[in-house]
Amino acid sequence: MGYPFHRGRRLRRTANLRELVSETRLSPGQLVMPLFVCPGDNVRNAIRSMPGNFQLSVDQTVETCAELADHGINNVILFGIPETKDAVGSSGYAEDGIVPTAIRALRERFDDLTIWADVCMCEYTDHGHCGVITDGDVDNDATLPLLARASLTYAKAGADIVAPSDMMDGRIGAVRDALDENGLEKVVIVSYAAKYASGFYGPFRDAAESPPQFGDRRSYQMDPPNVREALREVEMDLDEGADIVMVKPALPYLDVICRVKSEFDVPVAAYNVSGEFSMLHAAAQNGWLDLEKVMMESLIGIRRAGADIILTYFAKDVAKLLAR
Ligand code: PBG
Repeated sequence: MGYPFHRGRRLRRTANLRELVSETRLSPGQLVMPLFVCPGDNVRNAIRSMPGNFQLSVDQTVETCAELADHGINNVILFGIPETKDAVGSSGYAEDGIVPTAIRALRERFDDLTIWADVCMCEYTDHGHCGVITDGDVDNDATLPLLARASLTYAKAGADIVAPSDMMDGRIGAVRDALDENGLEKVVIVSYAAKYASGFYGPFRDAAESPPQFGDRRSYQMDPPNVREALREVEMDLDEGADIVMVKPALPYLDVICRVKSEFDVPVAAYNVSGEFSMLHAAAQNGWLDLEKVMMESLIGIRRAGADIILTYFAKDVAKLLAR
């Protein structure tokens, strides 16, 4: 039976009715704020291409997390900007490195902050690739022990979650083994399982000072046309011990999120990456888009596609809006 017996507009008449029948919700507990930690004291370097985001020294990272907690954001993922870089990214796994130092400071100050550590080498290598180089190519198997070592360093410092983002084959198993052998079986692994070689990472590479110095990342990150391959990556990472799987970027890959969600009974995260954030800001600055509207619409779209968790530079702004 159709119109006029059924009228879709009946349930759209008031804000309360729309809320009542809303199929998808967004709440601060599902959001993870990425933070860039740098050396120094009292440093807040604005990241030009990412309005409202900063490279933060450890003390400022602690202040920022206090402010995030006030808004109900209790998940942060840390990226490091190290003092020095070398061919094997040793500043990434050093115990006194920037990220473990920040983790210890946060752990001391906050009991219920969930601290995620991104695990990758590109911020720490002088060549900017996500693994060590042998004969001009990223050497998969030589990279695994270094990723495991970095994960162990972060977990020992007090990270709740390690999140390998390098796209080497076999890394989840290598990280899980290293954690378990060291009594860190409670540490969660979020795998960047389906991470695409994307142009949308541009602003992040400014923020983390991590662009590759030669070539690109297409020999290890996924090729944008592929979705079946993403399912296989997810399956392999789950077999190796991932607790949560991630799709990245989010907006151009909503179908991938949807497929992963429907085919696997595990929590799915999506990374609303730097370019997705910056392009909305740029358009809003030109007066072309209403920032609040497109921010909320983007994030609810990512949730509707099937993401349980969203990593987003909008985390605090969204939480503020939800509280209004
Ligand atoms: C590091 C890493 C990147 C991002 C997260 N982890 C950059 C890259 O792969 O080049 C991108 C995040 C963003 O764009 O917001 N491997």
